[in-house]
Amino acid sequence: MQLKKVKNQKNTLFTDRVSIRQYDKSVKISREEMTNILQDAMTAPSSFNLQPWRFFIFDTNEGKELIKPFMMFNQMQWETSSALIAIYGDMDNYSSADKVLSANVEFNLITQEYKDKMLEMMTSYGASYTEDRLKNSIFLDCGFIIMQLMLSAKNYGYDTNPIGGFMRKELTETLKLDPQRYIPILLLSIGKASEQAKESVRFSVEDITQWR
Ligand SMILES: Cc1cc2nc3c(=O)[nH]c(=O)nc-3n(C[C@H](O)[C@H](O)[C@H](O)COP(=O)(O)O)c2cc1C
Repeated sequence: MQLKKVKNQKNTLFTDRVSIRQYDKSVKISREEMTNILQDAMTAPSSFNLQPWRFFIFDTNEGKELIKPFMMFNQMQWETSSALIAIYGDMDNYSSADKVLSANVEFNLITQEYKDKMLEMMTSYGASYTEDRLKNSIFLDCGFIIMQLMLSAKNYGYDTNPIGGFMRKELTETLKLDPQRYIPILLLSIGKASEQAKESVRFSVEDITQWR
């Protein structure tokens, strides 16, 4: 397979996002702005719109110190970013079904009758899931929010790096989360770039696609 450099001038929405690992340490992101970044990203789709993502944001000195031991080879992002966001998936997402459907009724998006039918269907569907199937579904949903989060950050003028290299079990213990319920998905560093974006390569569509 042949790889090529990526630059599609017609669609800078995607090509403007690149992983940035070194940030301007002096830049702080206010909690109000961070909330907006997150809220925009939360337009992401999710299975039954159950939105299983949960955020833990480390934006203070104390918070940063708490997460420091678990950053493995990602020390530069820890040291220079404005914040680190830990994205967790909530295995108990089906308990939100009633709330989400009720909000739909409240906003006149669906009828009460339809809500009742949907709730019954979702409850039995959710109950039929194996743990593995549910976990996969939650990972998929969280992938969507993370991608949108990176694009949302870019829209507010910030850069990000998705970080899979962190100590999941230890962070989950430190946050005192129930490991059966909350699955650590990914960390995201966020801040203003202080390094030149590195170019990267991608496979060609022809190499990884089959047309039938
Ligand atoms: C699931 C996942 C885990 C990653 N983990 C790390 C990491 O631990 N440290 C790091 O520096 N980059 C990490 N990256 C960033 C990738 O190396 C990067 O996205 C890839 O090389 C493509 O470069 P780009 O993001 O600039 O397009 C991760 C990316 C993903 C999607």
